[in-house]
Amino acid sequence: MDTQEKLSPLTTALHWVVALTLIALIGIGFYMSWYEVYPLYDWHKSFGVLIFAVILLRVWWRIKNGWPTSVREYPKLEHRLAQATHWVLIVGTVLMPISGMMYSGLGGYGIKVFGWVMVPGNKNAEGQTEPFHAGLSSLGQFTHEWLGYLLVAAIILHIAGALKHHLVDKDRTLLRMLGRKGH
Ligand code: HEM
Ligand code: HEM
Repeated sequence: MDTQEKLSPLTTALHWVVALTLIALIGIGFYMSWYEVYPLYDWHKSFGVLIFAVILLRVWWRIKNGWPTSVREYPKLEHRLAQATHWVLIVGTVLMPISGMMYSGLGGYGIKVFGWVMVPGNKNAEGQTEPFHAGLSSLGQFTHEWLGYLLVAAIILHIAGALKHHLVDKDRTLLRMLGRKGH
């Protein structure tokens, strides 16, 4: 369980695995779609589906364990801003893989996880891609893209907050997330 002095190894491990994978997937996602680098699509989808399992484990752990208590008292506004950012980050991590799967799966593009066909693609007689459900696929695409921008903003704010704690307030917020124990 998390305490004010030390976060559980599961909390820190899940935080860093999800955080680093997410940053990589966002970077690769924008890069491959802006520059149309199609060979990267299958890699993006494979890691996106795999990390979804870890994200669900993390959400279960958050529900069971609650949010970690702050290392010390903060002004109310600062505390609220941090809490709101954590909510955007955690809900965003759940909705990104779901919207990606809706877009690719229901759009008829297919989803392969390291070569294993999770959802087959759908082509018509002329060899063009046919959506299974055009409306839901577009909703997935819209959500995936705009939530991507929102997450970039939330992550920048989140990292700025972590650095402020460490460099300006000189408290243990960042050290505790790095697994350090202390008062
Ligand atoms: C946590 C997991 C994921 C993150 C953070 C993520 C992030 C992103 C971002 C930021 C983009 C660029 C914005 C856009 O064009 O939509 C993108 C593109 C894309 N993502 Fe993901 N993604 C994740 C999972 C998935 C999954 C599971 C799939 C499908 C199975 C998927 C399929 C795609 C596709 C097909 C594109 C290209 C969209 C286009 O060319 O218009 N993503 N992703
Ligand atoms: C290199 C970048 C990052 C740094 C330095 C960082 C740092 C931290 C720190 C120090 C905390 C503890 C806050 C506290 O004790 O109140 C924290 C919590 C949190 N971070 Fe990050 N973080 C980073 C990236 C991310 C990313 C990309 C996500 C998105 C998934 C994320 C999601 C969260 C969430 C949801 C919490 C709340 C506690 C938890 O659920 O584990 N972080 N982060």
